Order: sequence, then structure tokens, then C-alpha cells
Amino acid sequence: MSASLATVSYIAATILFILSLGGLSNPETSRRGNLYGMIGMAIAVLATVFGPRVTSGGIAWVAIALVVGGGIGVYLARTVKMTQMPELVAFMHSLVGLVAVLVGYASYIDPSASAGMSGAETAIHHMEVYVGVLIGAVTLSGSVIAFGKLSGRVGGKPLLLPGRHLLNLAGLLVVIWFGYAFMRAPNIQAGMMPLIVMTVIALLFGIHMVMAIGGADMPVVVSMLNSYSGWAAAATGFMLSNDLLIVTGALVGSSGAILSYIMCRAMNRNFISVIAGGFGGGDAKPKAVGGPAAPQGETVSVSAQETADLLKEAKTVVIVPGYGMAVAQAQHTVFEITKRLRELGKTVRFAIHPVAGRMPGHMNVLLAEAKVPYDIVMEMDEINEDFPDTDVSMVIGANDIVNPSALEDPSSPIAGMPVLEVWKANTSIVMKRSMASGYAGVDNPLFYKENNRMLFGDAKKMLDEVLAALRA
Ligand code: TAP
Repeated sequence: MSASLATVSYIAATILFILSLGGLSNPETSRRGNLYGMIGMAIAVLATVFGPRVTSGGIAWVAIALVVGGGIGVYLARTVKMTQMPELVAFMHSLVGLVAVLVGYASYIDPSASAGMSGAETAIHHMEVYVGVLIGAVTLSGSVIAFGKLSGRVGGKPLLLPGRHLLNLAGLLVVIWFGYAFMRAPNIQAGMMPLIVMTVIALLFGIHMVMAIGGADMPVVVSMLNSYSGWAAAATGFMLSNDLLIVTGALVGSSGAILSYIMCRAMNRNFISVIAGGFGGGDAKPKAVGGPAAPQGETVSVSAQETADLLKEAKTVVIVPGYGMAVAQAQHTVFEITKRLRELGKTVRFAIHPVAGRMPGHMNVLLAEAKVPYDIVMEMDEINEDFPDTDVSMVIGANDIVNPSALEDPSSPIAGMPVLEVWKANTSIVMKRSMASGYAGVDNPLFYKENNRMLFGDAKKMLDEVLAALRA
């Protein structure tokens, strides 16, 4: 493939990536967005592999890498459970970081990478290497710790070292100092020592940064690392003089940063405070996830039949899905119930909290999979005001996102997080298996409210029974 055809292909891929991001911003256009992204990536890979910079001998190596990497990717995509997606995403971010580090070292050591460059160009190239390795190492170790935290291998409690901000500042100063030494190094051998020291500090900084962030703030961390991985890819693009990689990395970096900001707003967190760490653990020492919540009063349990009766009497119903619906894979039954209720003339809508489940858009994906029409799926801001006019709010495997203590108890670890105010409906029904707490490990006073009913059991099983009762 000629250089000009490769350039044109890169421009086409860039446009497709931008269209893809645009499409992904709305559930109705997200399929098209995904398709654009897939075509863009196929063009990008083909234009790179058959482009002027890969020799015919190199194609065999690329083909082997594609088969091995693609094979692992297909296997993971087919076997990973939806609820393990955030761990997988964190793991993949660590690979992007690792690539940036490896490419950085390779393009520093390889004399051909800077062959024919003028003094100024070589200096710029070395700067790209230093910054690229720095971002890559932080992304690598931070993502590995995020993976550990999300998969439960590393505890969720924030690790707060004494004087941690000073420690980070000292690390930054050392990195700048060694950057100066690196840029002034007369040859590659002399530059290796500052590069290695900086890599070690960056790796430690990544570990420290994510260890200091509490479990409840992990969603923000995942999207923040997503953003870092984009910048790491962009840095790799600079090192390899690959324009497409620079643009793609910048797209991922900036969209990840915007998503982190949106999520911080959804959880009423200040972005800087999340990064600085110590948040998300709360002063009130949350219990372990899934631990029993301290009893605060009487709960009223109902059967599936009674739930169906309440739904039959209602005119307006709002369904609030959460992590438990994903675990139970109850989305298809939820939609069957929705269809049945609509046949009975009820108005049924879904209320989606921005951090429901375990990843951004988790509930939207499940509902789309079950073919729930988009026009009855509402964002939190669109529907929160409607709860006082709702007859029944049905909470399916959600907990933190409907916890009134976020609004009523300033000492709660989730204080200030906007929540779906389901208790304002005439009756709220909470479906879960026990009185266990949710992700943030905090008690939920909703369960003890007078107008609340508890339907205990696995969401799928209980909803099947509710559906049978509704059809009877
Ligand atoms: P959670 O607060 O985690 O509550 C889920 C509830 O589902 C649990 O209390 C559990 O109670 C119940 N459950 C589990 N399996 C079930 C099953 N098979 N059938 C019925 N119920 C089941 O979830 P949420 O309300 O969706 O809130 C999300 C939380 O995760 C927030 O704290 C959020 O910050 C955090 N988080 C979000 C993300 C993103 S980006 N969305 C990422 C990481 C963390 P039982 O055990 O009693 O059944």
C-alpha cells in the first residue's frame, strides 16, 4: 500500500472513530456507533499492516500477534460475565500502559528510531519517550491495582499513607529532575538510568494513587484510567510518529476525562478529591460489601402474588434496575412483566441511575439486550421528580442508588450522592435476596420505610413468579 493511500485510510478511520463516539452518546444510535468503530478499526489495522512502514518480513510477525491477541480477545469476550466487565476493562487499560512503556524503551534504545533526526528533533523524540513511558507506567500499575480492587483480590479500603500528598509531590519533583538528566544524557547508556528510575517512581505512583481511592469511588477510577490509557496511546503515537494513534488516543483520553467528570457529578464527588484519594471510604467505616446491615426497624415482606396485586392496582409504575438484576440475569423477565403491565393499560417506565450496576451504561446495555424500548428508559434527572406521582416503584436488585441516607444523613459514606427517590412513590417494592448492603457497604433506611415492601429472593426467580401471577 502506498504512503498516500495509507494516509487517506487513516483519515477515513479517524472520521469513523469520531462518528462512532457521536453514535455511542445515545442508546438509539449506539449500534451504528459501534459499527462505525469496528469498520474504522478494521481500516486502521489493515492500513497499518499493509502500509509502507511494515516490511514484508514484518507482516508475518504482525499476523502471529493478531492471531494470538485476537484469539485471546475473542475468548475473553465470549466467556466474561457482564458483571466482570469493569475488571476486564481495567485489565485492558493496564495492557495499553504496558505497550506505551515497552514502545518507549524500544524506540529509545533502537538507533533507527531517531536516525536522520536533527538535534532538536531528537530532543523532541526523547521528550516523547520520557512522557510516554511516564503516562504508560502510571496507567499500567494503577490499572493492575484497579483490577485487583474490582475483582476483590485487593481490599477496597483506601490506603492513606501519612503525608501522602507530600510523597506524591516529592515523586513529581524527582521525576522532573530525572527528566532533566535524561534530556541532557550524552548517549543512550547514560539516559537509561534516569529513564529506569522514573519508570519505577511512576509505577509506585500509580499503585499509590489507586490504593488511596476508596471502593465507592472505583467507578470514577476505571473511567479515569480509561482516559489515561488514551493519553498513553497518544504518547505511543507520538513515539511511533503515527498520526492515527495520536488522534485515537486523544479521543479516548478526552472522552474518558469527560465521562469521569460526569460520573463524579452523578456521585456528588469532586474530581480532584477523588484523585487525591481518601474518598469513597467514608468516615463511617463502611461494612464489607454484601455484609448484613444493622437492623433499624421493621420491614414488611410481601410475596410474589402480593407484588403482582400491587402492580395490578397501580396505574403508573417505575422500575429501578440495579446490580442484582444483572447478577440474576433478570432483564428478559423484567421486559415480559413490562409488556404484560402495558397490556393491562399501565404506564411503565424505567429509571436509570448513572452508576447503577458496575460500569457506565450497565443497565442500558442489559435493557437494550432484552429489547426494552428506549423511549420508556429515563435518566435519573428526567424521572426523579415524577416519583410522588407514581403508584408503585419497583426496585430490582438495587441498593445504594436508592438509599435515602445519601440525602438525609450527612455522616453517611455516600452523603450527597444523588439517588433515585423511590420512597416518594405511593408504594415502593424492593427485590433482593437478603438485608445485605450493596457496593458501598452502607445500611439502607429505605427498607424500613412505612410504604416500603420487601420481596426477598433471587430477582429472576421472584420476577418469574410475579409474571406468572400477573398472567393468571
Ligand atoms: P448495589 O448497591 O451494589 O446493590 C445491589 C444489590 O443487589 C445488593 O444489595 C444485593 O442484595 C442485590 N442482589 C445481588 N444479587 C442479587 C440477585 N441474584 N437477586 C436479587 N438481588 C440481588 O447496586 P446498585 O444499587 O446498582 O448501585 C451500584 C453501586 O456500585 C454504587 O455504589 C456504585 O457507586 C457502585 N459501582 C458502580 C459502578 C458503575 S460505573 N456503575 C462501578 C463500580 C461500582 P442481596 O445480597 O441481599 O441480594
